Amino acid sequence: MVDLDTLTSLCKRRGFLFQGSEIYGGLASTWDYGPLGVELKRNIKDSWWQTMVWERNDVVGLDSSVLMHPEVWKSSGHVSNFTDPLVDCLNCHQRWREDLLEEPSCPECGGDLTQARNFNLMFKTFVGPIEDESSTSYLRPETAQGIFVNFNNVQSSTRKKLPFGIAQIGKAFRNEITTGNFIFRTREFEMMEIEYFVHPNEDEKWHQNWIDDSFNWYISLGLKKEKLRIRKHDQDEMAHYSKATFDLEYDFPWGWGEIQGIANRTDFDLKAHIEGSGESLTYFDDSTGERFVPYVIEPSAGVDRAVLAFLSDAYTVEEVPNSKGGHDERVLLKLHTSLAPVKVAVLPLSRNERLAPLAREVFDRIRTSGVARGFVEFDDAQSIGRRYRRQDETGTPLCVTVDFTSLEDGAVTIRERDTMSQVRVAIGDLEEQISWRLLN
Ligand code: GAP
Repeated sequence: MVDLDTLTSLCKRRGFLFQGSEIYGGLASTWDYGPLGVELKRNIKDSWWQTMVWERNDVVGLDSSVLMHPEVWKSSGHVSNFTDPLVDCLNCHQRWREDLLEEPSCPECGGDLTQARNFNLMFKTFVGPIEDESSTSYLRPETAQGIFVNFNNVQSSTRKKLPFGIAQIGKAFRNEITTGNFIFRTREFEMMEIEYFVHPNEDEKWHQNWIDDSFNWYISLGLKKEKLRIRKHDQDEMAHYSKATFDLEYDFPWGWGEIQGIANRTDFDLKAHIEGSGESLTYFDDSTGERFVPYVIEPSAGVDRAVLAFLSDAYTVEEVPNSKGGHDERVLLKLHTSLAPVKVAVLPLSRNERLAPLAREVFDRIRTSGVARGFVEFDDAQSIGRRYRRQDETGTPLCVTVDFTSLEDGAVTIRERDTMSQVRVAIGDLEEQISWRLLN
C-alpha cells in the first residue's frame, strides 16, 4: 500500500496535481489538476457518463447553474440543517469537527474543548452589486437541487416514464471545518450525481439496484474488490433528507473512507420544493391514472475521491531484473486503459536526426487517427530505459518505439506497461494493433 506522502509527491512531480495558488504560499486544501491529472479526472467522468447515461435507457443528463435562487436552499433544508458540529480548543484555539474526533479533547495539544455549536457549511455570496440580505445566495453544496428544481422541465421535454433518472456532473462547495488527506476533503470539489425517480412502492428495490450498479462501476474499472466495501449509515449519521443511506468506502492509505453515498431521499426534496415554490412537482401515471410525488434514489459520487482511490489502487512497486544481473525497482500505475491519462507514448530510440522524421510521422499518425481515444505523448529526452520508467510511473499502457531498423523494415515496437512485453508491428498495422490492446 502506497503512503499518502509518496503519492502526493508523485502527483506533483509528474503533473497530476499542484497545490492551489502555490506561488502565493498556497490556499489551504485547494488543488489544481495538472496536465496528467486533468486527463485522469476527465476519463473518470467520461467513463461514469458512458456507463450511467449512454449505456442505459433510463437516465438523461443535466448541467444546472451553480448559483440558484436562495429560496431553493431554504426549502431543501440546507439553510437550517446543512451543518457540522464545531468545537474550539480552549488552549490552542484550533477548530475541529466534533463528530470526527476520537477523544473529547484537542487532537493537537490535548486541551479542553468548547461546547459544540452548529456551523453551516454553505459558502455565502452576493448576487449583484449590493451586499445585503436580499442579494444573498450560496454556492451549491450539492448538484442535486439543480436536478430537483428541473424535474418538470426534464420530464416534460423528454417524456420519460418512471422509473427514470437525471445525471449531473459538476462542482460543489462546502466550507468544511477540517480538510485534509490531500484531495479527499476539500472545500471545492466535483460530484457525479443521479437523482433516480421511482414509484414510492419500489424505492427499496431500486436502492439495492443502485448500490450494486455503483459498486460494479468501480470494479469494472479495475478497483480491487477487497478494497471496496459497502457500509450502512447509522440512524444518527444520516443527512436530514434520508430514509436510508449506504456508503461505498475505499481502503485509502490512512484507512476506510467514503467515496460515494447512495441515499433513499424519499419524496423529501420534491415535496419541499412543491411547498416552497407552489409548483406541482408530481408525476401522472397514465396507465393507472395515479398522480403522486416520486421517491428518489440518489447515487452521489465524489470525482476527486475517485481520482484518489484509482491512483492509490493503481500504485504498484515491482522488482525487475536489470542488465547487471541484479534487480531494479519499477514503479508503475496499473490504471485501467480507459482511465490512463496518456494512452500511447511515441519514443524514438534516440534523438538521432535520422530517426526524428519517422518518429514524428508515427506520432502524427496515432494522434490524428483518433485510435488512442485520448492523449498521445512524444518523448525523446533521456535514455529509452528511463523513458519507459517515466511512462510506467504515470500509467501509460502502451509505448511505441521507433528505432534504426524501423527505417528499413517500416516496423516499430509496441511495449506493454504491465507485462513489459514487446512486439514488432508494421507501421501500416499500428491503428489496429493499438486499438485492440487499448480495449483489452
Ligand atoms: N447529494 C448528496 C450528497 O451531497 P454527500 O455524501 O454529502 O452526499 C457525496 O456527498 C460525495 O461527495 C461523497 O461520497 C464524497 O465522495 C464527495 N464529497 C463530499 N464532501 C466532500 C469534500 N469536502 N471533499 C471532497 N469530496 C467530497
